[in-house]
Amino acid sequence: MNLTEIKELSQKYLMNTYGERDVCLVKGEGVYVWDSEGKKYLDFVGGIGVCDLGHCHPAIVEAVTSQVCQLIHCSNLYYIEPQVRLAQMICEHSFAEKCFFANTGAEAGEGALKLARYYAKKKFGEQKYGIITFYNSFHGRTMAMVTATGQERFQRGFEPLLPGFKYAEFNNIDSVRKQIDETTCGVMIEPVQGEGGIVPATQEFMQDLRQLCDENNLLLVFDEVQCGLGRIGTNFAYEYYNVIPDILMLAKALGGGVPIGAVLAGGEVADAFDVSKHATTFGGNPLACSSAIAFLNELFGKDLAARAAEIGSYFKQRLESLREQHSVIKEVRGIGLMLAMDFSKPVAREFYRHCLDGGLLVNVLKDDRIRLLPPLIIEKTHCDKAFEIMNSALEKIGA
Ligand SMILES: Cc1ncc(COP(=O)(O)O)c(C=O)c1O
Repeated sequence: MNLTEIKELSQKYLMNTYGERDVCLVKGEGVYVWDSEGKKYLDFVGGIGVCDLGHCHPAIVEAVTSQVCQLIHCSNLYYIEPQVRLAQMICEHSFAEKCFFANTGAEAGEGALKLARYYAKKKFGEQKYGIITFYNSFHGRTMAMVTATGQERFQRGFEPLLPGFKYAEFNNIDSVRKQIDETTCGVMIEPVQGEGGIVPATQEFMQDLRQLCDENNLLLVFDEVQCGLGRIGTNFAYEYYNVIPDILMLAKALGGGVPIGAVLAGGEVADAFDVSKHATTFGGNPLACSSAIAFLNELFGKDLAARAAEIGSYFKQRLESLREQHSVIKEVRGIGLMLAMDFSKPVAREFYRHCLDGGLLVNVLKDDRIRLLPPLIIEKTHCDKAFEIMNSALEKIGA
């Protein structure tokens, strides 16, 4: 099919959630993707922070193909060997003592929320159900996660939202303190806000938040769906801050491109769920878990987090030099390979289009903001190429 045919069929048969798009991607290899018309792009979006090993990494291809020939699905009515091996691997490399596997980030959030409430109710009584989240956060699109997401634009049209949520200002500990009452059981936070604009929490705030939670018997839940798994230069974002959560959510990169989400927990929280209190048909299936094991082998075995820190700082310097040359760039922000650029004018779409023409994929977050989540395997030469394309896109905007 060519692009025009694909567009027509999408408009006719797909619900209008994603709107019109410019290209249809049909192939990927390493840091490159190709569209239906044969054009090649350097991919600095990585499936929105999913393709950390790039596309069709041999280790993922091998793990998925061999598992496909063995057993694709069987349900959690039976033990699943790759699921327990994955859980063991995660626990041996993190604070976690137990895991639950879901399929997406939003589902990991649902699991984390249910675990927090179930634990708190059992331990402290029925009145404990309140969750504090943050303005400008993003936790997914299910009803509970839309409610947890502190941005009205994701909530409008879906009211009534779920009861039991309150919102605090990010990086403002007094604001969190003010929201705590006798119902509060936990705080859910992205250590680096992703969708909200690549805004890192400060070290001081994270430490204060841990202390505040301890003083008030609140569970601290880290949503590391976007910022975890090497992206900010440590295997887990909590390690960057040296602040240990009670519950942690993973998804996106974990499956090497195959959908999987995970809820991690330590201490007595890890043992809180009773049999049949939470479940999912597909969660922890053999295929996704085998792929995730292959991903983590690469992440841990090749220390991709350290690589993300090093190449991320190189790339950020290059972006800073772009900012010095082009006054339309207001700010360059981010840690490791989780980066954003803010413009002083609403030119993000135009910038994206010029980059697309030049063979580079970037992600428009807002009219005046783009986000970059390249694979962790990028080389300096890829950063230099992206720099060149961006520079020429900015010259065109200026012109
Ligand atoms: C921090 C964070 N949490 C949760 C989600 C939801 O993940 P999913 O789209 O897999 O449901 C996202 C997705 O962008 C995210 O960035």
